[in-house]
Amino acid sequence: MSGAELTFHDNEFIVSKTDLNGKITYGNDLFITISGYSEKELLGAPHNILRNSEMPALIFKLLWETIKSGEEIFAYVVNKTKQGDYYWVFAHVTPSTDNDGRIIGFHSVRRKPTDHALNVIKPLYSELLRAEKSGGVSASQQRLTALLQQKGLSYEEFILAL
Ligand SMILES: Cc1cc2nc3c(=O)[nH]c(=O)nc-3n(C[C@H](O)[C@H](O)[C@H](O)COP(=O)(O)O)c2cc1C
Repeated sequence: MSGAELTFHDNEFIVSKTDLNGKITYGNDLFITISGYSEKELLGAPHNILRNSEMPALIFKLLWETIKSGEEIFAYVVNKTKQGDYYWVFAHVTPSTDNDGRIIGFHSVRRKPTDHALNVIKPLYSELLRAEKSGGVSASQQRLTALLQQKGLSYEEFILAL
């Protein structure tokens, strides 16, 4: 991983909201500070402005499929700051709906991940990334499915048990 690792406290939350296309519409103070960007740079920018190349594309595919179908998802994510540093988060991403139940945007609340969870997630993501480099996202999807089958867990059960 290039750059330095940034961390935050157990009692802090990094919050952002997006429109239906993943463009940032809101960020709390910590979201803005830790990203290294100004609020002006962030608002209206696509959320992948924070994308770290160490993240498997599969996780974002899973994220978008889940939230677009109206479900919530939990995911471990490593982000890249403007300065090239990085920070790990445990994200809970949910769709926001209007009074008629139509999805009008998305909301992510992130907590500091435990060391224990990261000790499982880091090698898993390296493996998924390797699979993606040789065989694309379908290869990493196969790898994740095999691992979950072996454990007898759904993605959510696996993530929430870490
Ligand atoms: C509410 C919400 C929050 C998101 N937060 C992040 C984030 O913190 N970091 C990130 O890399 N992608 C985040 N994404 C996913 C991005 O939209 C994007 O799918 C991802 O960065 C991968 O980029 P790509 O789709 O251009 O490959 C978020 C999406 C939503 C809807």
